[in-house]
Amino acid sequence: MKRKKSKVTLSDLARVGPGTPAGEWFRRYWLAVATVADLHDIPLGVKVLGEELVLFRDPKGQIGLLGLHCPHRGTSLEFGDIEETGIRCPYHGWLFNVSGQCLEQPAEAKESTVHRKVKHLSYPVREQGGFIFAYLGPDGDAPPPLPRYFPLVDDKGLRSLEGTRHYDYNWFNFIENGADPVHFSILHRSDPNDGTWRSWFFNFKDIPPFDAVETGYGMKVVSRKAGPTPETEYVDEKSFALPSILQIGDTEFTHFKSEPAALKDGSHNEHFMFLTPNDDEHFTLFTVNYYTGPDPKFFEKLAPSRELAAKEEKKPYDDRPYAPFRGSVRREDIACQATQTVIDTRKEQLATSDRGVILLRKLILDGIRTVQEGRLPKGVLPRERAGEVVKIDSFTGVRAKSHSAKSGAGGKMLGFFLALILTTLFSTASASGASIQVAYSAISGAMAPLWVAQDAEYFRREALETQLLYIGGGSLLIQSMLGGDVQFAFGPSVPVVNASLRGADLVLIANTGNAMVFSIMSRPDIKNPPDLKGKKVGVTRLGGSTDLALEFALERWGLQRGRDVTVLQTGGMPESQAGVSSGALDAAVLSSPSNFRAKKLCLFELADVGQLGIVFPNTPLSTRKSYIRSNREKVVKFLRGFSQGLHRLRNDKEFSMKVLAKYTRVRDAEILGELYQVYGVRHTGDAIPFVRSEGVERILKSIESKEAREAKPGDFIDNSLLKEVEQSGFFGKLRP
Ligand code: FES
Ligand SMILES: [Fe+2]
Repeated sequence: MKRKKSKVTLSDLARVGPGTPAGEWFRRYWLAVATVADLHDIPLGVKVLGEELVLFRDPKGQIGLLGLHCPHRGTSLEFGDIEETGIRCPYHGWLFNVSGQCLEQPAEAKESTVHRKVKHLSYPVREQGGFIFAYLGPDGDAPPPLPRYFPLVDDKGLRSLEGTRHYDYNWFNFIENGADPVHFSILHRSDPNDGTWRSWFFNFKDIPPFDAVETGYGMKVVSRKAGPTPETEYVDEKSFALPSILQIGDTEFTHFKSEPAALKDGSHNEHFMFLTPNDDEHFTLFTVNYYTGPDPKFFEKLAPSRELAAKEEKKPYDDRPYAPFRGSVRREDIACQATQTVIDTRKEQLATSDRGVILLRKLILDGIRTVQEGRLPKGVLPRERAGEVVKIDSFTGVRAKSHSAKSGAGGKMLGFFLALILTTLFSTASASGASIQVAYSAISGAMAPLWVAQDAEYFRREALETQLLYIGGGSLLIQSMLGGDVQFAFGPSVPVVNASLRGADLVLIANTGNAMVFSIMSRPDIKNPPDLKGKKVGVTRLGGSTDLALEFALERWGLQRGRDVTVLQTGGMPESQAGVSSGALDAAVLSSPSNFRAKKLCLFELADVGQLGIVFPNTPLSTRKSYIRSNREKVVKFLRGFSQGLHRLRNDKEFSMKVLAKYTRVRDAEILGELYQVYGVRHTGDAIPFVRSEGVERILKSIESKEAREAKPGDFIDNSLLKEVEQSGFFGKLRP
């Protein structure tokens, strides 16, 4: 059974050329490629997603977007002549209409019809509100509808398009800046007596807290400060709409430069920036301001905040590339973003203030994976909604606190949870200095060996100060580990192998459970695997471990995803369980305790994947190779504590159940008993928790890439540390 596996990582975000994961994702959306004002009576060369193209308008007013190089012998059509019916290559005169059809080849015989067979590369183009948009994706003859963006289609206010801006660094550095509101208070240093914005709201000495909130169009960051009355608050929102539109809400007040009193009616200005990557090193920004307020001179007043010239003088000895930059918001941004280096080579150490950035990265990575699974990503408008006006709701002003609290209700308060994790992570890390951060990836009984080791203080007995953190989702966890904030990861297996295949410095050093401990739970009327034909099955994340478990089961049953079974991503175990219970799904892959809860709701256990005889590293422990090199003794001690926890789990039901109850928050004694049965008795893995190479081999087989085919399981495993523990006689001394 062949299926394209998701193996997308952060480094994919930077690359946008044809065939790259992010490039293919971008090609599902309409992208701005020029303003109407940019396009004169001569052809205009443009580069979009790594493709060199030429834009022209024929005398009938039709716009064409064709491959830049003439299909004859490659001359640039930027030098072509625009004629009644199209564009003529200057070299040998081949003529093309706006659809790329060759109409004439003057040097060929008069009766020749060869030109009819020449169809040059062309993409569909649409005009809207002074911008020209193009669609470079599949099905160019029937593209998805171009969304009708409010500031471009509404006609009651004043519209002002800024000049097209060209930048020479990677697109992603710019876009993620929009989800990073703390930089307003710091980079654009907003002390009333010192700084560019001179804002009392975004102020270095009093940085407003913010939430990162997922919305229907993408996400927004919502910053808040106490309002003029106890029931109100000042709010500033900045939005990101898929794939690459930023709305920096309130330019009306130049980010609260106005007196607080002026804000009570909110903003009347919308400010959309459409970003289009040209290639991996360049992007273009197309900006519109749309004002619906009462001030006819509004755009005049706005102009100074748009200046690119820095206010500060250039010092004669200042040879820094972007200097002088202080005093121009835009130059300050450029100096920071252009020097960040590209995301795939950048070394990062994320902090709590990056929660907006983390959510934005997740949204885009999810979109890329969705495209890889052959589905339409979020933000692409379905045909039946073609007429809708698309608004991106950024608010600036004063509003009632209750409203503010609900501002996240349009989406999910994902940011809150991330903030919680990272707050724990960083506050404790700094408080306890050298403490070891150990992250686990799921609230699942599978994490019991670690929880028991921690609560029984086995790490402390080894003179280690350990801090446990829950970081859901393998990729975020791995990011934290690579950034050096987390020393050990317990849980992720496939993401560790994937990251290592891409050169990450990670290795598996222990493993508990050698089977995939998942159940496929179905509606009560589905009692046999063949009954799944034509049905919908939920997994938490496509390409994740629940998906892999389903893949193995389908393989066993001779069923094929797509053809026989539709696989849907639910986002989490509770959602999967709710999906089957409500009948929205016919079955779902669940882990404990969700599967027990499902059983209690009379759902049917179609398969216990753990019993299918598949060797799989269910819950491995991993760390960085470089950490082992410089802290070998600590890692060995950690493994002693960990092994002791595993031993206690196997031998002390009462204590282990208490620990399980504490971490999983399960109170139902029956479910706790079952959890212990599964994770304390049935699936605790080998006596000494070595990593088995056949399990890693199984993962490698599931990844379709040259690197995975050529890799050896041993490259991902380091059992030598556990061996050292074994050789010291440690395991022989453990008493039940
Ligand atoms: S290169 Fe264009 S017509 Fe020959
Ligand atoms: Fe900025």
